Amino acid sequence: MLRLACGVLLFATTATVFMTSPATADGIGGVQTPSIFAPVSTPAYAIRELTWIVLVITGAIFLVVAGLTVYAIMRFRRRQGDDGREPPQVYGSLQIELAWTVVPILIVVVLFLVTTRYIFAIEGRPPVPEALEVTIVGHQWWWEIRYPKLGIVTANELHVPVSDPAHPTPTFITLQSADVIHSFWIPQLAGKMDVIPNKTNRIWIDPQKPGGYVGQCAEYCGLQHAGMLLIVAVQSKEDFAKWAAQQQAPARNDAEVRAGRELFSSLSCINCHAVRGTTANGVFGPDLTHLMSRRTIGAGVIQNTPENIRSWIDDPASLKPGALMPAMKLSREDLDKVTAYLLALR
Ligand code: CUA
Repeated sequence: MLRLACGVLLFATTATVFMTSPATADGIGGVQTPSIFAPVSTPAYAIRELTWIVLVITGAIFLVVAGLTVYAIMRFRRRQGDDGREPPQVYGSLQIELAWTVVPILIVVVLFLVTTRYIFAIEGRPPVPEALEVTIVGHQWWWEIRYPKLGIVTANELHVPVSDPAHPTPTFITLQSADVIHSFWIPQLAGKMDVIPNKTNRIWIDPQKPGGYVGQCAEYCGLQHAGMLLIVAVQSKEDFAKWAAQQQAPARNDAEVRAGRELFSSLSCINCHAVRGTTANGVFGPDLTHLMSRRTIGAGVIQNTPENIRSWIDDPASLKPGALMPAMKLSREDLDKVTAYLLALR
């Protein structure tokens, strides 16, 4: 419950960046406030169902216990004329002790079996040939997103086609970590799945409504654990195809930003970042080939605007304290050039 409350709080603060992001041309409109009570994907529907079952059972227990407590407080409170003696003490009642041992065990067994059934039902689903395969790698503190069959690499913004329940086109996600343990969680689409170094986990989603859904790393992973958000853009099949084609295109090579491109290639930027089709092929930081197609920078921490891009290159820590990218310490003129180049990467 505490974890849930923390999660809700976290979303309330960080998700506002997505809510207020300028709408992009991917047809998903605004981004929803995440809630496990507003599912749009089969695993999340199952989790809501299970949540209600658990809430009803535990709510009934609460009502009985609280009701009896209130009754006892009212019925047996100190009254005028009491003789001040202790009430009769009851020790070693076999019936009472059996009752308060066996009944809770039965309740826990029921909750355990119901939960196990849901877990197996979700995890047992085999991939279908129509499924989209995505690999997501957790980094401190951002998400690398790869579509191996489509040849797309992006970051912090997962695009998937909507899945029609009559003809499901789910997305199967392979989860890996580049450093520490993270946890992949998009409350409206599926449950949490740990992202563990040297171990591959799998999760699947089949979002049935187009829209933008916010995810959040759900395992403490360092200073910017809270600044490790993910947006899932669920698009119509046509919009997804359009997005994929745009992402597959090589990086733009505009003549007017040549100075910036050459400067960028001469700096250490290229050791960490990739821009497809150029000498920049680093894998430590996010792929920048189509940087400006994304809503946010810094994994949901700030909006992707020209001013923010410039401030980020100048000193990422001013926007995201602890970010592993160093301040580039460029002259104002060089900063303008590199910014202009990155802004051309649409
Ligand atoms: Cu990654 Cu918390």
